[in-house]
Amino acid sequence: MLEEVLHWLDLRPGQTVVDLTVGLAGHGREIVQRIGPHGTYVGLEWDPETMALARQALQDAPNVNLFSENMVELPSVLATLGLQHVDGVLLDAGPNLWQLTAPHRSLAHDSDVGLDMRMSPATQTVTAAQVVAEATEAELRQILRVTLTESEARRIARAIVRAREREPIRTTRQLAEIILAATPPPAKYTGRMPMPALLAFRIHVNAEIDNLRDGIRAAASALRPGSGRLVVLTFHSAEFRVCRQVMKELARGCICPPRMVQCACGRKPRLRLLTSRPLAPDEDSLRRSGPQCRSCRLHAAQAV
Ligand SMILES: C[S@@+](CC[C@H](N)C(=O)[O-])C[C@H]1O[C@@H](n2cnc3c(N)ncnc32)[C@H](O)[C@@H]1O
Repeated sequence: MLEEVLHWLDLRPGQTVVDLTVGLAGHGREIVQRIGPHGTYVGLEWDPETMALARQALQDAPNVNLFSENMVELPSVLATLGLQHVDGVLLDAGPNLWQLTAPHRSLAHDSDVGLDMRMSPATQTVTAAQVVAEATEAELRQILRVTLTESEARRIARAIVRAREREPIRTTRQLAEIILAATPPPAKYTGRMPMPALLAFRIHVNAEIDNLRDGIRAAASALRPGSGRLVVLTFHSAEFRVCRQVMKELARGCICPPRMVQCACGRKPRLRLLTSRPLAPDEDSLRRSGPQCRSCRLHAAQAV
């Protein structure tokens, strides 16, 4: 949703813009062009391999500041640059297409390399293989509940426990086969999107929901009061839910229970929601970005 992102960021020459998830710099290159030689682009990317690709993609652009950091580190990145406020923040959640398909990254359902799934192996200690091997059945069920119904999660958690008693689960392909064998025929995986049960393990290993929540909060605090714009792209219902919840919370300010006559929390609204409903890609966007973007939703807000 490139055009829509650029529209809602409302970029002008000379602005300072943060891209919390640089990826392969598809959005980044356009942002840099629109803010021009007097603008400042600050990019964060947790995955060092992706960051190396992004550096190449942005090597000729002026005033580009790239950090191999988790998005939740935004406050310290801005402090390093001596920046207090920024004019725009883009958060395009989840993995990039290269990570999803690179055979050595173990995110693809047919990957035969070690079951890892970490975005940043140097800073994260727990792999998906460890989770699958060590979590109790109840913990597995809880992990899977993020993307599955209670009964699906129960069935797959049990199947994983039985399978690992026979032999260690070492690869994503092995895990995917166990999941498929435990999935009733009408719900069989079509191969189009990340398999929901695998997605649940990726979300867990990378604390994706916590990072998204904290990333949105950090972004809202960094926006220039009165004008700074925030655009968030989500790709599945777990991201969608947390994004809506945090953005509404930031737009509401006060978090006191409704029964309280007077506010005791003292929180003020930080954002004004610009998109009353999240936007879905139109047919034109789908033609340009591909059908894998069908579940993408755009949420935009402005600092108050
Ligand atoms: C959907 S892609 C971004 C694509 C990018 N907008 C583009 O146009 O190329 C999301 C990126 O965020 C990165 N990422 C995931 N979690 C992150 C986090 N907590 N902090 C920073 N980057 C993260 C992933 O490695 C991935 O490259």
